[in-house]
Amino acid sequence: MSIDPKASSVGIASIGLQLPPLAMQVEELARLRGQEPAKYTIGLGCREMALCSDECGVVELAVGAAKRALDRWHGDLDDIGLIAVGTETAVDMSRPLSAWVADGLGLRGAVRSYEVKHACYGGTLALRQAVEWKLAGAVDPRSDKRAALVIAADVALYAEGDPGEPTQGAGAVALVIDDARVASVDPVSFPWSEPAFDFWRPVGEAYPRVDGAFSLDCYKRAAQHCFRAMVGDRDPNAAIDGLAAICFHVPFPKMVKKAVAQVGEGFGWDAERVAQIFDQKVDPTMHWNRLCGNAYTASLWISVANALRGLSVGDRVAAFSYGSGFGAELLMLGAGPDAAAGAWAADVEADLGQRALVDAEAYSSLRAS
Ligand code: COA
Repeated sequence: MSIDPKASSVGIASIGLQLPPLAMQVEELARLRGQEPAKYTIGLGCREMALCSDECGVVELAVGAAKRALDRWHGDLDDIGLIAVGTETAVDMSRPLSAWVADGLGLRGAVRSYEVKHACYGGTLALRQAVEWKLAGAVDPRSDKRAALVIAADVALYAEGDPGEPTQGAGAVALVIDDARVASVDPVSFPWSEPAFDFWRPVGEAYPRVDGAFSLDCYKRAAQHCFRAMVGDRDPNAAIDGLAAICFHVPFPKMVKKAVAQVGEGFGWDAERVAQIFDQKVDPTMHWNRLCGNAYTASLWISVANALRGLSVGDRVAAFSYGSGFGAELLMLGAGPDAAAGAWAADVEADLGQRALVDAEAYSSLRAS
């Protein structure tokens, strides 16, 4: 199958990000848990874990990101006809997180409002639904409600001492879906899903259960299927070389590196070619992820926000989303005129500039509170 690369006129019109006020270097956690720091920094590729406080949890992160995206957008709140929040940090089994966010924004009226759950894939599903809502012409043409507000927000915490603890993190990304000023989103995407128990959190339990090795296998297999489908009958080298950046969901950076190796293996690449693609097109997109850790649904979109900065109109970006359970989807984006300026980088700079680094003792107190 050959794919028409013509970018859609629907896409991301504005981006806002919000990171929490606290963080800890993974070396501090290694000290607390009696581990070699290199296991976390080199073995997993982690650097800092963003941490929430009593005053800033998932709702505050989501509302903060949304306000920033809306402030930066040329439209206003009255133009929003859909709000969808992807999260696995639900605060209620019935009331959607979108209701808390709408409350924080003062958004009400002729608006479709809901929460989307599919582990770390929920934000991407919300975005896909918003794009498809626009493309389908589901909006009453007599109304002004032309845009959607999509938010991916999560706080990732593992049980103390869990092997996944160094991969913890938090953050939120808000995307206004309207005209493609920041990036177009291709109508065609490449999904893959298989029912599995690789990472799950039973109702009533505070922390996830993870089969780490199985989860890695599922993630790699999904990536291979999605990229294979995207390339189709084209030359894989030409298809991948044509991308300015390749973004992944980032549970931790080493997991992404392993997935790239598996995708490359499927294309018949040697280790040198895999390393070239990873170093040039993938690793640079994870700079912000290394500073905030795994933010579940927001993780891919933090990478995409970073990758879009500085791109020229029409530059192509691949975005691989994965959520345990498991569901995955590869989206294709095209940079729009506002990508070059990358105004949303100011959000990350402001949050990183203000956040406090905690030590192991303060972290233990935080977990106990
Ligand atoms: N120096 C450098 N590297 C070291 C090291 C040291 N002193 N000690 C260990 N390592 C490396 C290991 O070799 C391994 O790397 P490799 O996989 O490339 O061989 C890596 O560090 C991790 O070590 P491992 O023993 O596998 O860690 P673990 O059993 O403690 O597992 C996780 C930790 C994070 C991998 C696992 O719990 C996990 O997969 N968690 C979550 C997965 C996830 O988020 N899934 C859901 C969403 S997709």
